[in-house]
Amino acid sequence: MDIGAITQAPVLAQLHGQAFAMRAERAWSRQEFEALLAQKNIHAFAPVLKPDGFILLQSLPDGAEILTLAVQPAARRQGLARALLAHAFDALGAPKLWLEVAQDNAPARALYAANGFRITGRRSKYYKRAGNLAVDALLMERDIQEGKSDEH
Ligand SMILES: CC(C)(COP(=O)(O)OP(=O)(O)OC[C@H]1O[C@@H](n2cnc3c(N)ncnc32)[C@H](O)[C@@H]1OP(=O)(O)O)[C@@H](O)C(=O)NCCC(=O)NCCS
Repeated sequence: MDIGAITQAPVLAQLHGQAFAMRAERAWSRQEFEALLAQKNIHAFAPVLKPDGFILLQSLPDGAEILTLAVQPAARRQGLARALLAHAFDALGAPKLWLEVAQDNAPARALYAANGFRITGRRSKYYKRAGNLAVDALLMERDIQEGKSDEH
């Protein structure tokens, strides 16, 4: 699958809305994506021919943070998120990647665990849910450098 940089804010906003609708999380607007993409250290990647999903990252001195990763429902479980993660690792060459994921987001947690991320922290009651509920955010991290222990 050919994956490359994507700069169309409307496409990203639409995909984000579709991907997160089931999770009842707020969709990021076209304007928000435009503002993000205008920053030099923000990178977005998607399949070139059929952008059914994308990954958005911010490069920082010590590595890169995955700001969001979204695959539209009809394209799931076909390896697209795995391919987007692999492409981002290669394209950015970051020594470390990290992200935040809601504790109740089983698909995303399974994806990250299967791709070498480990839990390094937790923000209590970080994500608000309907009915005055709140869910913890898990901080996950993957060291790209070989020889580093994954155990904690
Ligand atoms: C999480 C998400 C990006 C996964 O995308 P995807 O393209 O379906 O994932 P992949 O097909 O690349 O899955 C790779 C591996 O991740 C794990 N995985 C992915 N979805 C899973 C699910 N629903 N249940 C269990 N494991 C899952 C599996 O190990 C899978 O490998 P397998 O299919 O060989 O078993 C997608 O479900 C999504 O967009 N969800 C809504 C948005 C979201 O939660 N984004 C992450 C925010 S941190």
